[in-house]
Amino acid sequence: MIYARIAGTGSFLPGEPVTNDDLVARGIDTSDQWIIERTGIRTRHLAAAEMSSSDLAKTASERALEAAGVRPDDIDLIIVATSTPDCIFPSTAALLQWKLGIRNGAAAFDVQAVCSGFVYGLTIAEKFIRSGSHKRALVVGAEVFSRILDWSDRGTCVLFGDGAGAVVLEAAEAPGILASALHADGSHHPILCVPGGVAAGQVVGDPFLRMDGQAVFKFAVRALGDVALEVLDQAGVTVDSVDWLIPHQANIRILQATARRLGVSMDKVITTVDRHGNTSAASIPLALDLAVRDGRIRPGHRFIIEGVGGGFTWGAALLQF
Ligand code: ACO
Repeated sequence: MIYARIAGTGSFLPGEPVTNDDLVARGIDTSDQWIIERTGIRTRHLAAAEMSSSDLAKTASERALEAAGVRPDDIDLIIVATSTPDCIFPSTAALLQWKLGIRNGAAAFDVQAVCSGFVYGLTIAEKFIRSGSHKRALVVGAEVFSRILDWSDRGTCVLFGDGAGAVVLEAAEAPGILASALHADGSHHPILCVPGGVAAGQVVGDPFLRMDGQAVFKFAVRALGDVALEVLDQAGVTVDSVDWLIPHQANIRILQATARRLGVSMDKVITTVDRHGNTSAASIPLALDLAVRDGRIRPGHRFIIEGVGGGFTWGAALLQF
């Protein structure tokens, strides 16, 4: 039997942290107190104009490759989860392949599932590896959400940040992914979307992120609780056997409500939203890499990753490190 396990993690955040007071100084009608009380966010990182998702992905990937002890040409599958691709096409994954100097013809494609994108990407990569068709995948979440924010809309622009996280997932004799579940319900698309498109050389419609915050909040708490229970049930284990929970980092109140619903102490929840803001598809691999590098997640530990995002999409995976 072929399984898939994480062999290395990496991440990258652009520039210096931007504080809530820095946003106020830039003219946004908000306050440090409001943002911290409603979201838990204190800082986020914003990429310079010339930096794209594939640039962030490149550094995160190099760190993951180094941690896994593999060369770029050892990778035969590249999946990038992003909603802020460098361009309409080619895919960010193809550009990442080129920037990493991978010249072995490795398959490369993007996954678009917004904040659930990394969970989707990892689950897809696992199925490729378990089928025997591929041996070693690079799975990346990379975003420059600052590009799709309406900086005059204080209800959304304070929430997001830019960054990238990556893992090397490789064939193994013992399971690294014990269970996974992916879901979507497109009927909820109006509560979180970037509705615009491109036609005849022009942006048609609204090019910025729009959100009904309270509706998203309710949906996210329900979905994150349900899907975590689903993967535990699939694996036939209880939450007590799980060492860490790594939810998508949207808002500290969503994380707290999810932990309460699952009966998990906040000490077991990896939290980065205070420092990174919401980095969409990058938030889970960023949090994972942080916790691996600071020694909290250790070999043998079990953890759940879970995401929810525009679409709506949601999903989770139970992993053994
Ligand atoms: N600073 C100061 N005041 C603000 C700000 C701001 N940045 N943004 C909104 N306000 C004001 C509003 O104008 C409103 O003022 P009013 O009462 O005078 O009209 C007041 O604050 C309350 O606004 P609400 O939108 O009702 O605030 P709410 O308590 O719902 O908090 C928030 C808003 C933080 C967005 C919350 O709904 C939330 O966290 N929702 C989840 C959304 C989320 O996490 N989205 C991420 C993307 S989805 C995902 O990743 C799953």
